[in-house]
Amino acid sequence: MTRRIGLLTGGGDCPGLNAVIWSAVRAANSLGVEVLGIEDGFEGLVGGGRVRLLDKTAIRNILPLGGTVLGSTNRGNPFKMVRHDHDQEIIEDRGNEVVSNIERLGLDGLIAIGGDGTLAIGLDLTERGAKVIGVPKTIDNDLAATDTTFGFYTAVETAMEALDRLKTTGESHDRVMILEVMGRDAGWIALHSGLTGGAHVILIPEIPYNIEHVAARIRQRWQEEGRNYTLIVVAEGAFPQGGTANYVTPGQAGRLGRLGGAGATLEAGLQQALAAWQRPSGPPEVRTTVLGHIQRGGSPCAYDRLISVRFGAEAAHLAVMNRWNRMVCLRGTEIKSVPLREAISRPHRVDPDGQLVLQARAVGVSLGD
Ligand code: F6P
Repeated sequence: MTRRIGLLTGGGDCPGLNAVIWSAVRAANSLGVEVLGIEDGFEGLVGGGRVRLLDKTAIRNILPLGGTVLGSTNRGNPFKMVRHDHDQEIIEDRGNEVVSNIERLGLDGLIAIGGDGTLAIGLDLTERGAKVIGVPKTIDNDLAATDTTFGFYTAVETAMEALDRLKTTGESHDRVMILEVMGRDAGWIALHSGLTGGAHVILIPEIPYNIEHVAARIRQRWQEEGRNYTLIVVAEGAFPQGGTANYVTPGQAGRLGRLGGAGATLEAGLQQALAAWQRPSGPPEVRTTVLGHIQRGGSPCAYDRLISVRFGAEAAHLAVMNRWNRMVCLRGTEIKSVPLREAISRPHRVDPDGQLVLQARAVGVSLGD
């Protein structure tokens, strides 16, 4: 019988984490199961352990809050913990410490709320005997086993609102306005926000762009549509044909590389491609806004709250029913679950020939190809 479970949030934060915590604790407590919150992802299970009881007082009023009351880290892979000794970086496997802490704390298993990295760590732990339920979070929406991850629609709302604002200033100044959005190697945030925010060009990692084609769409706006501004969304992982994605820092042990600069690259390319444009007012000015972590902060939208609350309740239910090593997911309108291994095996990318892209093209959006 399940009596006590641990709950942690891993990887980058995302709107809706606290709603999952709130709901999982309430659902577990109502079935007589105690929940210990683990601080800062799996890091809180290394060494002496950093845990605290999550009871109804601890979770009061947290449902609408952004961030995570438990803290999180995307450096906390216990199988590849980085330690600095003078100038040397030492990588250590401390997975067994996590497993023994789980036993020492009397946890029957863990609910791990995270993206592909956190869920992969969860899966590795199951191979050392731990029991894990995964809850998929990420603003990137890049996990194939669920129709959507929570946090995604809040990020899209934020990016859409940014586009609404860039449109009015771009229109006033006859400018090309570029918005760089997050999403890693998936173009979901760019595509959804671009379509809902009326972007004229949407550039995604799944469709490498041709800078001349982007420039041609800008000229077409002016020459054929009589419009003096252009709104462009570029995903941080997008890149020109023949090129590669821009990384600010490369990947390291247990940590993905940091993307950045896709907007700046595009701006420089467009300035060059438009330089020779002979029109009375000269080539248009190009301005870039990098939306960054604004997409990850703040309160979750209603839809993200709804799936967070439903995911949390189902995760607790699976744990109480001893149906371990699964990840909760959304299929259509139903919350279901899939084996953890299956959940992390396939990334979710935009289909370049799929409906969304075809519909974007149908309404005149250039994908830059
Ligand atoms: O995976 C979520 C995400 O926000 C990505 O969209 C982005 O590339 C990355 O995390 C940023 O990570 P960090 O907060 O470590 O800079």
